[in-house]
Amino acid sequence: MSSMKKAFSRSGPLTGELKVPADKSISHRAAIIAALARGDSTITGYSPASDCQSTLEVLEALGLRVERRECAVSVEGTSGGPFIQPRGPVDCGNSGTTLRLVAGAMASMPITVTLTGDESLRRRPMGRIIEPLNMMGARLTSEGGDGRPPLVTSGGSLKRIEYAPPVASAQVKSAVLLAGLGADGPTTVCERVRTRDHTERLLLASGIDVKTEGLSVTVRPGVPEAFDVEVPGDLSSAAFIVAAAAMVPGSDVTVRSVGLNPTRTGFLDVLERMGADVEVSVEGWDWEPVGSIRVRYAPLKAVELSAEDVARAIDEVTLVALLATRAVGRTEIRGASELRLKESDRISGTARGLEALGVSLEESEDGLAVEGPCELVGAPVSAAGDHRLAMMFALAGLAADGETVVDGWEWTAVSFPGFEKALEMLGARRA
Ligand code: S3P
Repeated sequence: MSSMKKAFSRSGPLTGELKVPADKSISHRAAIIAALARGDSTITGYSPASDCQSTLEVLEALGLRVERRECAVSVEGTSGGPFIQPRGPVDCGNSGTTLRLVAGAMASMPITVTLTGDESLRRRPMGRIIEPLNMMGARLTSEGGDGRPPLVTSGGSLKRIEYAPPVASAQVKSAVLLAGLGADGPTTVCERVRTRDHTERLLLASGIDVKTEGLSVTVRPGVPEAFDVEVPGDLSSAAFIVAAAAMVPGSDVTVRSVGLNPTRTGFLDVLERMGADVEVSVEGWDWEPVGSIRVRYAPLKAVELSAEDVARAIDEVTLVALLATRAVGRTEIRGASELRLKESDRISGTARGLEALGVSLEESEDGLAVEGPCELVGAPVSAAGDHRLAMMFALAGLAADGETVVDGWEWTAVSFPGFEKALEMLGARRA
């Protein structure tokens, strides 16, 4: 992919209403659970993000019939599998969710599949799914012996387990729960911190026996029934719009039809603690709450983030670091070492980019501290091959003096195709 540069400069108020692309996490899960279901499922408003397209391509490589229509995707279920043995390695692109969840879904199937991905995905840790899936009786090995993809996965008959993941990760929890559908008894995952529960909700909606008690989730083996679902807007994409309005004086923006699952709304809570003017209204509730978020600019104050806050806002933490440059006082983000293992090392990428824009900050192994408010001065910044960093630096550009040039703009398509248009529609200026 050739690198694309995009320039941004200080913006006047952002105003208006918009929708954001459909939820990535829900789209992945809907496609994968549909592949395991009895009958054909229809997913309306499937995410256009390239990560979610990777999931559909992976399912096709595994023999699934997928039909893409303008506003919906249909998946022909296999009643619990097995999927078809592919001829060569299967490419999960940039998407860790695709790789980890598909590995779980296939763990009880008698096929051997090599799961791989782009350069970034091939650097990401897979020991976290290798361990529990192998405890259940599957055979997963990292080809290079370093716990990273390519991952050779062979399914088999699975034993039930009770598993306490050492890291807070919805992907790990979901991989084990999906494998549990094909196990010989109820499988339990006991989390240390609560992570997003879309897998549990969708399994329940498709007739699977799933029980959540505190931090424990238990799934009984079974075949999901086919379903028709509509995917709401992605709160993690909405967060970039919300953050833009929270930091540009005079802004008043509403994001409509966005998912408001309480395991995902940590960023909105953090914003309120920072003094932002955020109004959330839940307007509909199918198997996931959906509604709108209105944000009006208000002066911000510093905030402290704990490991629990981080788990509920894992993809939004870099935005908190940016907002900290607009807020009065010292913002401290702790318990965020997982950010070093995302599409890029997001702690380092955030620190390097904000420093390039003139911010002085302290970086630690598991977080960042920023003393605000501080001037942002436009400069070239690198997205480091990471969609969320590219978008966060664009927002920085809207508040900076001079021109901020984001290198790696093409990565925004991983989660938010049309991000630049969305900003323009709200009145943001490009340099
Ligand atoms: C996701 C879980 C999170 C998140 C990612 C999507 C999911 O990752 O960062 O963008 O859909 O389950 P981890 O499970 O690695 O924390």
